[in-house]
Amino acid sequence: MANAPQLRPLGQTLGTEALGIDLSKPFDDSTADWVRRAFAEHPVLVFRDQDLGAAELAAFGRKFGIPRMHALIKYRHADCPEVSWLTNVEADGKVDWYGVKRATDWHTDSTYEDELPLLAILHAKEVPSAKGGTMFADMRAAYDALPEERKELLQGLTALHGRSIGPAGEKLYGDNKGVTEKEYRDVRWPAVTRHPVTGRPLLFINPMHTYGFDGMAQEDAWPLIEELAEHATQDRFVYYHQWRAGDVLMWDERATMHRGAGDARPEERRIMLRTIVYPN
Ligand SMILES: [Fe+2]
Repeated sequence: MANAPQLRPLGQTLGTEALGIDLSKPFDDSTADWVRRAFAEHPVLVFRDQDLGAAELAAFGRKFGIPRMHALIKYRHADCPEVSWLTNVEADGKVDWYGVKRATDWHTDSTYEDELPLLAILHAKEVPSAKGGTMFADMRAAYDALPEERKELLQGLTALHGRSIGPAGEKLYGDNKGVTEKEYRDVRWPAVTRHPVTGRPLLFINPMHTYGFDGMAQEDAWPLIEELAEHATQDRFVYYHQWRAGDVLMWDERATMHRGAGDARPEERRIMLRTIVYPN
């Protein structure tokens, strides 16, 4: 590479800028490898000053796996359904209140599906004048910092996941969970998993979709999920990304949890493109 890209930390634990890459230009295999290697160690990676259409965003996603359509039909991009809109604006220009509230508590995307996503990518098009960030929690560091007896307990546990029916999902959405094409049944994932490249253990519980554990009563599971979510989202594990228009941010769907900060003024436009990428 003529000018090798560079990394610059943004947050204490997570958040890293990748400098020197223009995502609108087709990039060669060595650049793609560089991004893959950087991403394995830096699970929230930010490319500034980009200007991509939906198809280009999907093409970038395809460097890492297979972008897939999202469960919520309403927000799919008309020309490129594996990309969807994250927006607080309705077609008629009014505030979309579901869009304002959407995903503003801690979660990992789509853990209620039969297959787990690898990563997701957001591209900011219009951002509020202040706040309106996205927050990320480091589930590697969160696991490492657990007390030994919690690690032992979790190693043997399989978690139950359903669409927005965990403690945070019920609190945020209640009976208004948005319209999807299919009905979701439970899926099960180990409470602790490993990073596919680095092998680091990851706490794989999120309070939006995790609602129980195999063989554990609900009254014991619910507080455990809440305890783990609280542990993982302490300030020391969290990075708040303040968006600039043009940012492309990719995050690891297993090594992190995320949420919209939900702290912007709802009448200010906040519009992004997003794609979720699955393993090949
Ligand atoms: Fe999300």
